[in-house]
Formats: sequence, structure tokens, C-alpha cells
Amino acid sequence: MSQAVSSPPKAAGLEGVVAAKSEVCFIDGVAGRLIFRGYEIADLVEHLSFEETAYLLWTGKLPNRQQLTDLRENLDASAVLPTSIIDVLRSLPKGTHPMDALRTAISALGCDDPDRNANTPESSERKAIRLTAQFPVIVAAFHRLRSDQEPIAWDAKLSLPANFLYMLNGKQPHETLVRVMDAALIIHAEHGMNASTFTARVIAATLSDMHSAVTGALGALKGPLHGGANQDVMELLLECGTTENAEKKVRDMLAAGEKIPGFGHRVYKTFDPRAAFLRKMSKQLGEAAGNSKWYEMSERLIPIVMEIKHKDPNVDFFSASAYYTMGIPLDLFTPIFAIARVAGWTAHIQEQYKNNRIIRPTDDYTGPMGLKTVPIDQR
Ligand SMILES: CC(C)(COP(=O)(O)OP(=O)(O)OC[C@H]1O[C@@H](n2cnc3c(N)ncnc32)[C@H](O)[C@@H]1OP(=O)(O)O)[C@@H](O)C(=O)NCCC(=O)NCCS
Repeated sequence: MSQAVSSPPKAAGLEGVVAAKSEVCFIDGVAGRLIFRGYEIADLVEHLSFEETAYLLWTGKLPNRQQLTDLRENLDASAVLPTSIIDVLRSLPKGTHPMDALRTAISALGCDDPDRNANTPESSERKAIRLTAQFPVIVAAFHRLRSDQEPIAWDAKLSLPANFLYMLNGKQPHETLVRVMDAALIIHAEHGMNASTFTARVIAATLSDMHSAVTGALGALKGPLHGGANQDVMELLLECGTTENAEKKVRDMLAAGEKIPGFGHRVYKTFDPRAAFLRKMSKQLGEAAGNSKWYEMSERLIPIVMEIKHKDPNVDFFSASAYYTMGIPLDLFTPIFAIARVAGWTAHIQEQYKNNRIIRPTDDYTGPMGLKTVPIDQR
């Protein structure tokens, strides 16, 4: 049997491969810098709202007052789900993971979108805004339906982060929690050519529609090596219960060659700058709630993973204890990531449409050659 003539093996996981030219986001993994459209993440978190950040990601410009007002009005107008989508959510088994519910609802919304048959730049701009408004509505509505409560309508007086908390809990959220949610959404809004964004761009590059691309991106985000890690972090902390148990568990996992959720990153070779913000948030929320146990337990695990595997925490590590302290159910942690990241996905999808070529890499064939079929009773 002859062997395939193959090219030298490339690094697995497309490490270091440049898949597109992009003006959306710059990451310096050595210096630990994250930049959206030319602006440092610290500047954005301190001075912008999530809505302004989304506008920046889509257009490359900071909105002026009128542009922000227009965007807010468009978000308000879009934050209503057709009855057919509520019916879809209602029909799902109660035990459905909210990421699966969100993915299903976004796919269904693609059949209902007023621009469903158009892929023009203008229709893509409108779809990006609609999707960004609909994500928090879907997540909150599904959570209420599975808890035998009716969905609560979006309140046009509130921002998107405040609306999410309001639609989830049915009461006006405390200002501090809104500020934390706003900052968390900004931090998670975009991150270059990560797995879900790449998925979205691959789908968009076939000139398929934005809802298909975002549905695919949701499927990629939910995996435990990507956005699913924040839920896994909190499950690990809760399972351990005490710092002593957590330290032992993490040492045992590392000795067994297992990965610790919330640590490591393909691009960052230093402390993930997003983790630094979330670390502060987790600490402050713990102090405000009079319960710093989960924050402190998290802190104690960092030197252990650093000592044994030289891995820093990533964005998912401290978001876990921060969201838990805010009283958010564990399986909504990854959907919150999605509520933010849809802004980045839709920015990338629009960029892909503007300068498109189908994304079609090749593989390194390592199978046999020269085989001949034999009749079925001789196999
Ligand atoms: C993020 C992640 C997928 C990056 O993967 P990657 O770039 O392919 O890195 P690798 O899996 O090749 O890791 C390189 C080495 O570091 C180790 N490593 C990576 N992340 C680790 C972790 N979280 N815990 C322990 N060891 C880890 C690997 O086991 C490997 O060790 P080895 O060389 O001895 O085999 C990976 O770090 C991971 O699985 N982290 C946990 C899940 C997570 O938090 N995901 C969210 C990312 S934002």
C-alpha cells in the first residue's frame, strides 16, 4: 500500500495562522494589551457604555449624542420577540441548557427577521442591532419560562445591561450591579479571531446570512474550552466547598494531567487583561455582599496553577465568582458572554462581507492510498 504524499505537518489548532485582515481588535498577548478599534480596553471600560462599545465595534467610531440616541431607540424597538419565538422557548424541555435555548431561538429568529432575504450592508447593520437587543431578551425570557414565570418586557428607560438584570429578576436592578454588568459586557464584547468569531466568519464567507453565522458562533462559544469555561469554574469551586479542598483538588487534577477551567489562553502569555478587571469586580462584589469566600478561594488557586503549569487565569476565571456573587444562576454565565460577544461577532461578519473570499483551508492527509474494494462477502 502506498502512502499519501503530504506536506510537512502544520501546528495543530491553526496556532499562529493569520485567517483575515481585521480592523476590529488588536491583542498583544505578551504585553497583555487588548484594543478595540484603536482604543485600549481600560479606556473603554472606564468611559463607555456597552451600547457605545457595540457602536464602536460596528462602525470604528465613537457615537455622538444623536447617534447614541438613535442606536438606543433602535435597540428598544428591536427588543421584542415574535410570539413564535416565545412559543419555541416555551416548547423546549425545562432542562435545556440556556446556551442551547439561545442557539435554537437565534436560528428560529433568522426565519422571522424582516431582512431575512437580504445580505446588503444596510440589512446587515440592522440585523446586528436587532440581534444585540434580542440576545438578553431571549436569555431572560427562557430563564423565566423554565422557572414557571412569564417573560418581562424590555423597559425603554433602562440600558441594555440594566434591562437584562431587570428582565431576569423582575425588579429594578441596583445601580452597582448595573455598572458591573455594563463593564462585564464591554470586557467580553470582542476578542479577535477566537474560535466562535472564526466560526462566524467561516459561515459568513460562504455568503450565508448573519443569523446562520451567529447560530454557528453560539455553538462554538458554548464549548468548555471557550465560553463554557466560566460555568465550569464555578462548578469546581462549589464542588470543593472550602479553599483547602479546592487547593487539593486542583493539585490532584494537575497531577492527573487535567486542565483547570479558567486558566490558560492561546494568545495571552501573561495575565489576561480582562481577568484583571474581573478580579477587581469579584473582590468588590464579595466585599459588598459580605461574602468574599469565592473570590478568596479563586485567589488561592492562582499560585498553584502558576507553580505547576505556568498558566495565568483567563477571562472566565473571575467572572465565575463575580456572577455567582451577583446571584446569577450558573448556567447563565456563558449566555452572558454571548450577550456581549454578539457585538463582536456581528462586527466581524460585516467586515467579512465587505472584503470576502470563501475560507477554505486544506488538510494534511495521513490516510492510506491505493486500496481496492472487495466484494462484501470477502470483507
Ligand atoms: C484556553 C485553552 C483551550 C488554550 O489551549 P491551547 O492554546 O491549545 O493550549 P494547550 O492546550 O496546547 O496547552 C499547552 C500546555 O498547557 C497546559 N494547559 C493549558 N491550559 C491549561 C489549564 N487550564 N490547566 C492546566 N494545564 C493547562 C496543557 O495541558 C499543555 O500542557 P503540556 O504541554 O504539558 O501538554 C486551554 O488553555 C484550556 O483548555 N484552558 C481551560 C479552558 C478555559 O479556561 N477556556 C477558556 C479560554 S478563554
